[in-house]
Amino acid sequence: MKLQTLDVLIVGAGAAGMMCAIEAGKRGRRVRVIDHARAPGEKIRISGGGRCNFTNTGIHPAAYLGENSRFALSALKRFTQHDFIKMVERHRIAYHEKTLGQLFCDDSAKDIIKMLTDEMARAGVTLSLNLGVKSLSHDGSLYTVDLDDGSRVQATSVVIATGAKSIPKMGATGWAYDVAKQFGLRVTDTRPGLVPLTFEPTLLESLKPLAGVSLDAVVRHKVPKDADPKRPAKPTEFREGMLFTHRGLSGPSILQISSYWREGEAITVDMAPDKDVAALLLEAKNENGKQMVHTALGHIVPRRLAEVLCERAGLKGKLAEQGDKKLRLLAESANAWSVKPVGSEGYRTAEVTVGGVDTMQLDQQTMEAKTVAGLFFIGEAVDITGWLGGYNFQWAWSSGWACGQHC
Ligand code: FDA
Repeated sequence: MKLQTLDVLIVGAGAAGMMCAIEAGKRGRRVRVIDHARAPGEKIRISGGGRCNFTNTGIHPAAYLGENSRFALSALKRFTQHDFIKMVERHRIAYHEKTLGQLFCDDSAKDIIKMLTDEMARAGVTLSLNLGVKSLSHDGSLYTVDLDDGSRVQATSVVIATGAKSIPKMGATGWAYDVAKQFGLRVTDTRPGLVPLTFEPTLLESLKPLAGVSLDAVVRHKVPKDADPKRPAKPTEFREGMLFTHRGLSGPSILQISSYWREGEAITVDMAPDKDVAALLLEAKNENGKQMVHTALGHIVPRRLAEVLCERAGLKGKLAEQGDKKLRLLAESANAWSVKPVGSEGYRTAEVTVGGVDTMQLDQQTMEAKTVAGLFFIGEAVDITGWLGGYNFQWAWSSGWACGQHC
């Protein structure tokens, strides 16, 4: 059997694994990265609509979820968004800010992948693709890793950078969790995050005409009183675009709230932010009572939405024919629509997995398992999840960088 001796074996050539490899290689460690995919950084390639939203200028602690989300701070502070931006600028990659501090490549996400593979090559890192792990064991000082091609690697450090379960079609696996469990580490509950939410058939039927309608919305989620005491009780809200789909709701505000939402819970949607719909309808009734209700509401929210809201409220005819109470209820359905999604589109379309390897078991400076010397977990495999908008890549860069200083 072919045997290779290394300092560091990194499993997963994604954002976190490649950043870690660069840093460990720069320290003179003998590093090899393996990945079962055909190419490195496949999620980078498809991210941000092909332009990769590689970080956010406003990285802040509240943008991260996890049972102990403050775990992320150490790495985020030591390798910041500004450090990554400098790296991008050093490689002369043109970029721009789209909105809310989100930085995207001007040309292609492939520029980021090339930057990382170039840096890995410069740091003397070996990259092997189409290669997975058969088994992994530890004898107290060395890790022995049997690979799919029949060869064996022995290394003092093994870094698990295999991401999580989102988009299984792209080779995403829960393998990091299996490794964690093999070595007696806890994995928190996992679920799809940054994912569209779905409705039950009857509700879907009544909202059918709205498929394709997009609008500015404030989406809120309040943790119910009887929820798990570990969950932050603070209401969470996002103001961004929202889209009605054939299955439910999508768009940035919904993807954001989906990471906080759990099955059986309601969300509240304000589809006319900054507008007091009740006051506007009552004013319209006073000024021009002959106006049809849906027409008046159609001046405040998109016309198709106005029609559906009137239909659902059973309001037909002129404004003057409606009691104020009914108009107030109609307004509430626009300003504070409380709705219970039945589920989400799942890992098939989720951008991230919420949950992962328990951060209480990892050292926040190094990402090493506290009870298993030489075993490291980085990136999405760990129970740290960022908001939409470049926060997840920044966690991958920062945790990979931190690990690369020690592994
Ligand atoms: P990542 O998943 O990138 O890499 C893991 C690697 O391990 C993969 O190459 C995989 O092939 C390999 N692997 C898995 N199991 C293995 C096994 N058993 N053996 C060998 N190799 C294995 N974030 C952001 O900040 N800005 C954005 O614009 C986007 N956009 C976006 C779009 C879409 C469609 C998705 C799905 C996700 C995003 N994200 C994002 C999230 C971002 O992609 C994600 O947080 C990072 O890629 C996580 O980086 P990791 O390196 O941890 O895992």
